[in-house]
Amino acid sequence: MISAENLTKQFNVRGVPLVAVNNLSFRVSNGEVYGLLGPNGAGKTTTLRMIMGLLEPDSGYVEIGGVRSTHKSTDIRGQLGLISTNDGVYPWLSVREMLMYFADLYAVDQSLARERLEELANLLDLGGFIDQRCSTLSTGQKQRVTLARGLMHDPPVMLLDEPTRGLDVVGSQAIFRFIDLLKLRGKVVLLSTHRLDEAERVCDRFGLLHRGSLQFEGTLCELQQATGKKHLVDMFIAFINASENSHPVAIPSNEQSTEA
Ligand SMILES: Nc1ncnc2c1ncn2[C@@H]1O[C@H](COP(=O)(O)OP(=O)(O)OP(=O)(O)O)[C@@H](O)[C@H]1O
Ligand SMILES: [Mg+2]
Repeated sequence: MISAENLTKQFNVRGVPLVAVNNLSFRVSNGEVYGLLGPNGAGKTTTLRMIMGLLEPDSGYVEIGGVRSTHKSTDIRGQLGLISTNDGVYPWLSVREMLMYFADLYAVDQSLARERLEELANLLDLGGFIDQRCSTLSTGQKQRVTLARGLMHDPPVMLLDEPTRGLDVVGSQAIFRFIDLLKLRGKVVLLSTHRLDEAERVCDRFGLLHRGSLQFEGTLCELQQATGKKHLVDMFIAFINASENSHPVAIPSNEQSTEA
């Protein structure tokens, strides 16, 4: 189980303070897939980066399996896998070399790493290009390798930041089938995505983030009752349209963070 408690992060963009994440709290249980949804700039990636320990919250904290995480705490890092399109692959290594390298970074025993590599190659269909240099892969192939990379140490918590970005329907289906499997294995899965139709199929619960704040949260059934809409996409559009006239949160200038 992971919990985010009152996470807040502010950036200073060309002298203008911007609250990227505002007092955000949510929990995800083992075997649960939580969809963190929101428009561009809502604060999804910033939230995942704080959970991963890549970015220090201004306030609030993250607990993983009951242990409070602190910025750059390596003990917690081993519990987490982050899949983000920005992570990329190492162009000069083959897929096999890169995955074995990452297993080694996380101190996974060599023979166990070889087993995991084989399992992931089957699940994610990497076989056709596993000995190819990463620089020669297509976008969809790279994305599957990035997913495998985040899983080589078999972390109990998976953070997936738009894992289907740039993938075709078949590639996306493979990723979502894989998320189903992670869920069956009791992993905590936190998924940020724009693909609301896919999210609807794969997530157990959803949180809608807008301008850094959680606007509503619940199962599809709860959200349908609360909004009177059947599909997430309609809820999402109705919500964004309704909030068009509201304004971003203003922060007094003496509280500015300078991180950028
Ligand atoms: N390092 C940074 N420095 C300054 N501003 C930042 C930084 N990282 C993010 N931001 C700003 O914080 C806000 C939230 O960004 P974030 O990347 O978390 O959004 P997102 O929900 O992931 O959006 P998208 O759907 O486009 O990926 C945006 O306004 C963004 O410009
Ligand atoms: Mg993002």
